[in-house]
Amino acid sequence: MDEGLLEQTANQLVAPGKGILAADESNGTMSKRLAAVGVEPSAETRRSYRANLLSTDDYQSAVSGVILFDETIRQDMDDGSSIVESLNAIGIHPGIKVDTGAKELANHPGEKITEGLDGLRERCSEYFAMGARFAKWRAVIRIGEGMPSKACISTNAHALARYSAICQEQGLVPIIEPEVLMDGDHDAQRCYDVTAEILDATFAACTEQGVHIPGALLKPNMVMAGLDCSNQATREEVAKLTVDCLTNHVPHDLPGIVFLSGGQSDEDATAHLNLMNKMDVNHPWQLSYSYGRALQAHALKTWAQGGPESAAESQEMFAHRAKMNSLARSGDWSPDLEA
Ligand code: 13P
Repeated sequence: MDEGLLEQTANQLVAPGKGILAADESNGTMSKRLAAVGVEPSAETRRSYRANLLSTDDYQSAVSGVILFDETIRQDMDDGSSIVESLNAIGIHPGIKVDTGAKELANHPGEKITEGLDGLRERCSEYFAMGARFAKWRAVIRIGEGMPSKACISTNAHALARYSAICQEQGLVPIIEPEVLMDGDHDAQRCYDVTAEILDATFAACTEQGVHIPGALLKPNMVMAGLDCSNQATREEVAKLTVDCLTNHVPHDLPGIVFLSGGQSDEDATAHLNLMNKMDVNHPWQLSYSYGRALQAHALKTWAQGGPESAAESQEMFAHRAKMNSLARSGDWSPDLEA
């Protein structure tokens, strides 16, 4: 394992003022998102949308890495250069989603186990040769009656740790993503407890597998009530509960935490991150973003209208969200900047 390379990449990914663009929606997910805005899904429409997004002027001032899907890492920009080359040319690390999806967990209706360990070493080796320097694996944890089960926690923690060890062996910084879903009517305290449980299990498994923590990143949910809960936490409460949970359940030698947005509104995702970075607390890790929907939702909707004007407007929307989240890295965002 090249610890020096892994630590350097991990630290570059969470450099001040920068975060990650998650553009690694699987073909199935991306096709659904395109269809939802009235665009016929195909390899070409998925390419064309992303090529436009990645042609935005100067977004590298707010973005250190872009997570790609297997189809995308093999595709080209409109000018014929490869997407990987175009990212490298502006100092952005290409990343790659390497799990093969969350599948039904046997004997546990409603719960999922993320698959993709078979052949992972060979795939990571190929992606590194193609220019990828980091990877992502997403585990999905649902809260409900009797959920999450011990089986769901332990199998997903084990898979995250094995994935991380293989990535590091192949030179890729693993983004460890145990996502506790926002679906459900649970309160924020229940989310706190489940988040703590999956974080403890994941880092215990990482220790067992010999994962080099200074060469890894964590991509967690924020601690908040379920979407159907009548007692929603305030933004300040979410920020405080999240930092408290992470401080008690994440190793302090991890370089950075890059949150997912998970269905939060664009502005909530920015405001929560801003409040955490504004706190009068000396966090041991960088607190950053790896947002998918919270960076892209409006950009996609606008691009879908078609034509060069919409394409340019879509880039402006993405640039604006990237800028807002970049400011949130230092607690310098405020709601009036959204006008
Ligand atoms: P969201 O920010 O839309 O949750 O996506 C982040 C991600 O990469 C989920 O795996």
